[in-house]
Amino acid sequence: MKVIAITGGGQGIGRAIAYHFAERDYAVSLTDSDAAAGRETLAGIGARKGLGLFVKGDVARPEDVTAWMARTVKELGVPDVLVNNAGIMIRKDVLKLKPAEFRKVIDTNLGGAFLSAQAAAKVMARRGTGGAIINIASTRAFMSEPNTEGYSASKGGIVALTHALAMSLAPYRIRVNAISPGWIEVGDWKKSSESVKPHHSEIDRRQHAVGRVGVPADIAKACQFLAENADFMTGQNITIDGGMTVKMIYAE
Ligand SMILES: NC(=O)c1ccc[n+]([C@@H]2O[C@H](COP(=O)([O-])OP(=O)(O)OC[C@H]3O[C@@H](n4cnc5c(N)ncnc54)[C@H](O)[C@@H]3O)[C@@H](O)[C@H]2O)c1
Repeated sequence: MKVIAITGGGQGIGRAIAYHFAERDYAVSLTDSDAAAGRETLAGIGARKGLGLFVKGDVARPEDVTAWMARTVKELGVPDVLVNNAGIMIRKDVLKLKPAEFRKVIDTNLGGAFLSAQAAAKVMARRGTGGAIINIASTRAFMSEPNTEGYSASKGGIVALTHALAMSLAPYRIRVNAISPGWIEVGDWKKSSESVKPHHSEIDRRQHAVGRVGVPADIAKACQFLAENADFMTGQNITIDGGMTVKMIYAE
């Protein structure tokens, strides 16, 4: 049985990736800082007759990441796939943003991806049969709205971390790629106490060339492609945004 490890697997895109792979006979190891969310996803894996493990933890803390990876190896086996998905955003006036707030976003999104990749790569390298690491970046790595400095910088960092790791880990046959999602609706993928029914306006749909807002399954399917059908791909970033970021805008 193959093993996938997913950070931030308690809710949203991470939960959808967990279910997608559980339905395809992967054992799924999750970590999340939200215990209620993590336990719900674990129950969802069980409901799909899948094998799962949830370890509460903060990806910004090296000791939490090390403990999660150790339990993953002991209880499920060495991961074949790691998805670095955990992420937070702070939107705040850049003139008022505190250094600690900026650092928290960088430490979680970029630091967490590095720590988890390093922990997974150590055990993958020791096993010697390779692996795939998938980093969830964002179209905000390449374009911005105001007051999202920490988030955009962390996601740009993830794209660069991806090609750096791809080079360093190539000798161990570990491929490292990124996915940059656009607008993915996760309202109905939150833990039950926070789940909401999505509502989109006509303009929300029309600003996507494909005529709809994204769903978490769009990202889960790309993870499967990168994990299983992309032997000749490493160090790359795939944008999955329904065409939103290639739409040309003329200001009057
Ligand atoms: N939803 C979108 O439109 C969108 C677009 C582009 C990129 N992304 C990226 O996709 C990823 C998932 O986004 P989402 O919308 O599903 O978010 P979400 O908030 O629904 O889920 C994120 C999960 O990560 C967990 N998490 C947060 N900080 C953590 C930490 N320090 N340690 C461990 N777990 C932690 C949360 O508890 C939560 O369960 C993020 O990296 C996000 O930046 C999302």
